[in-house]
Amino acid sequence: MLILDVLSPLLLLSILLPGYGCRAADIPEDTTSEFSVRLYQRLQAAGGQDNIIFSPLSVAVALGMVELGARGASLEEIRQAVGFSHLLPGVEFSLLQNLTAALLDDDSHYVIRFANSLFLQEDVTFNPEFLHLMKKYFRADVETVDFSESSAVAEQINKWVENHTDSKIRALLSADDFSSVTRLTLVNAVYFRGSWKNQFRPENTRTFSFSRDDGSEVQTLMMYQQGDFYYGEFSDGSQEAGGVYQVLEMPYEGEDMSMMIVLPRQEVPLASLEPIIKAPLLEEWANNVKRQKVEVYLPRFKVEQKIDLKDTLQELGIKNIFTNNADLSAMTDVEDLYIGKAVQKAYLEVTEEGAEGAVGSGMIALTRTLVLYPQVMADHPFFFIIRNRRTGSILFMGRVMTPEIIDPNDHAFDSM
Ligand SMILES: *[C@@H]1O[C@H](CO)[C@@H](O)[C@H](O)[C@H]1NC(C)=O
Ligand SMILES: *[C@@H]1O[C@H](CO)[C@@H](O)[C@H](O)[C@H]1NC(C)=O
Repeated sequence: MLILDVLSPLLLLSILLPGYGCRAADIPEDTTSEFSVRLYQRLQAAGGQDNIIFSPLSVAVALGMVELGARGASLEEIRQAVGFSHLLPGVEFSLLQNLTAALLDDDSHYVIRFANSLFLQEDVTFNPEFLHLMKKYFRADVETVDFSESSAVAEQINKWVENHTDSKIRALLSADDFSSVTRLTLVNAVYFRGSWKNQFRPENTRTFSFSRDDGSEVQTLMMYQQGDFYYGEFSDGSQEAGGVYQVLEMPYEGEDMSMMIVLPRQEVPLASLEPIIKAPLLEEWANNVKRQKVEVYLPRFKVEQKIDLKDTLQELGIKNIFTNNADLSAMTDVEDLYIGKAVQKAYLEVTEEGAEGAVGSGMIALTRTLVLYPQVMADHPFFFIIRNRRTGSILFMGRVMTPEIIDPNDHAFDSM
């Protein structure tokens, strides 16, 4: 029995926002938002009161890489679940290629790097056509290793991931993840670093209480600014989501990428809002937020999560590739190949931008009485996505239930 390990560690880092500008024609449209939301709902169901962070686009790319080597039910399940079944067979690879290409910024307003690599067992022969298409669509590197040397392989792959994620993702795999039956490991990493178009001034950051959904409070660093953003107030019409909630879209420099924050009213737990999140609603938010001056209070935060995609994907209908019946015959003639492991690790940091300069100390009394502009005060749990405004691709999706306090003396920030 061969095991194919698919890893899609992701990574991310980020700071900020995009803009709006619609560019015409030729812009591929991401069709995977339904899949992204379903993934989120699964993670939410399993996640208790934890923060969530994952990269839907990166999962789609990793599955695309597997699909390239798959046939029969293995292939069909992926097409169905990810949202490609309306496309002619094979068109999804070109779509994924175009979606990732659309994220590469020529003007260096932000940095997004996709790093894909296949690590193959030395003596296994892969179909040359498969390797060719991996290069063509996914620009995947191919390296050979000896999986029976499991510690050495874990170290080599971890180094590779570290190198492609500015050291934000370390020790992704351990020797236990490999064995003499492992034949292939697929690693897919995404690295993102952006600067807000409207940066927060570090001197406006204050220690502030954040109220968690269980009623407890934690001290966090709250950033503040008044600026032009996209903003809207929405309601699902029933009381399900606790009535009106706020959506704030903050563009990163260059305006192609943005972070959207969805915040229920203070007394409404995020869990009441989460069930209404659906793919069409993401569209509705994006299309209906209006540019205006907004007062924003947003905690600095750092979220990180390692997800076992195998369980989650099976729940979404991608089962065959994980069983003995998997058909990965487009990849290699070797029989009995199936996916043994699928892991994603994502990391996101949100700061004023460079996090240089001193952080103000002491509490500030914030009053809600003298509000001149809409006020978004994220001092309680919220949902967020980081997306490409042109294609709709969702680079990251998650929620902040507990923001971490980021130490202002943390030198890791100096480089951001
Ligand atoms: C991807 O881009 C190429 C070049 O612009 C285009 O020919 C192709 O049709 C696009 N594929 C999809 C699925 O949009
Ligand atoms: C790290 O990545 C860069 C490019 O991303 C590459 O040139 C370099 O060889 C890599 N180093 C290692 C140790 O993989």
